[in-house]
Amino acid sequence: MSTSKHTYQSGFGNEFATEALPDVLPVGQNSPQKVARGLYAEQLSGTAFTAPRSENRRSWLYRIRPSAVHGKFVEKNHATLCGGAFDQIVASPNQLRWNPFPIPSKACDFIDGLVTIAGNGSSDIQSGMAIHVYLANRSMSDKYFYNADGELLIVPQLGELCLRTEFGLIDVKPGEIAVIPRGVRFTVDLKEDTARGYICENYGALLRLPDLGPIGANGLANTRDFLTPVAAFEDKQGEFELVAKFSGKLWSAPISHSPLDVVAWHGNYAPYKYDLAHFNVMNSVSFDHADPSIFTVLTSPSGLPGTANLDFVIFPPRWMVAENTFRPPWFHRNVMSEYMGLVYGRYDAKAEGFLPGGGSLHNCMSAHGPDVASFEKASNAELHPQKIEATLAFMFETRLPIRPTRLALESPQLQSNYMDCWQDFKKYFTN
Ligand SMILES: [Fe+2]
Repeated sequence: MSTSKHTYQSGFGNEFATEALPDVLPVGQNSPQKVARGLYAEQLSGTAFTAPRSENRRSWLYRIRPSAVHGKFVEKNHATLCGGAFDQIVASPNQLRWNPFPIPSKACDFIDGLVTIAGNGSSDIQSGMAIHVYLANRSMSDKYFYNADGELLIVPQLGELCLRTEFGLIDVKPGEIAVIPRGVRFTVDLKEDTARGYICENYGALLRLPDLGPIGANGLANTRDFLTPVAAFEDKQGEFELVAKFSGKLWSAPISHSPLDVVAWHGNYAPYKYDLAHFNVMNSVSFDHADPSIFTVLTSPSGLPGTANLDFVIFPPRWMVAENTFRPPWFHRNVMSEYMGLVYGRYDAKAEGFLPGGGSLHNCMSAHGPDVASFEKASNAELHPQKIEATLAFMFETRLPIRPTRLALESPQLQSNYMDCWQDFKKYFTN
């Protein structure tokens, strides 16, 4: 399958096989005594060696140099990236909402421009997640990156990106998502002047498609719509930087060649992209709403059945047809914690204030729901089949409370008056 200028393989977690030059992939074995064209064979493990077969993810890479060829890592400072225990500040039960973070005027690539909003758990215990935004105005020239702490779910909000990875090239634009697995080396080129988006860094079990239960064999995100790149390599020497995120910190090492030198690879551990417009939306056709879990695109399960380390949920364009039903999301308190973002358009539970590129945080048991204006309008609306159009909101939902960073709580983007949207509900009760 080919979209834009790059070529992709279709499927999710398949045993892919791809080569940029002919007759490189070994047949019938993984590491022959000599690999074709003088390449080195190297395995990248995404799960423990002995993970059950149904969970096991690994790929074999045939590359110009082994990945171990690089200089010594030294710690690299980063003013706005936070890892670790997310205990900088006391987390409160207040509902929080942020305006979009502006793109800096100074030179800023995808790594420079990472801003950590919140997180939970820890990469060291491989549980929880972090929420970042990225703000960029230039490509990561001469710089490569990998994240040992978690896989990166990238949700662009402004500007198309080209992710050049060890496994091949991925273009991703607003309305699409991309996932870069833990450990995979890549660099980010901007295809427009500026770029902004959200990142969920998943410390837990690898993201996968949710089970469909009574929905059946088809629906929600379909396997065939996930796209993994075909092999593409760089044979480039020079003075480059290899940046690693390891145990919550950034590290920098010199490297004198491009690490994107994989000529062929096979396996089921690889980056992928997905166009959210392909999500087959389901919901009630009689009355009431299904829970928002009906909009789950990808999930990272925890050890507790049905209680995710992370769910990635979207609220895309869709028909609303339920009869005698309050159409926006209901008022609720949730044992799970919810961070929401908006790629474009307007979210149906908020009349104003929730802006594309902004975010909101409703933590464990923090009450939330439609604002007064949305409630009044929806309670009195004449109900007829109605299409919600030109909007794409999403949610990172997680079982552990989400702890904001000091930077996020002290930023001018934090809306001091968010709670006001619920204070003017009238008392309609009659006894
Ligand atoms: Fe909610």
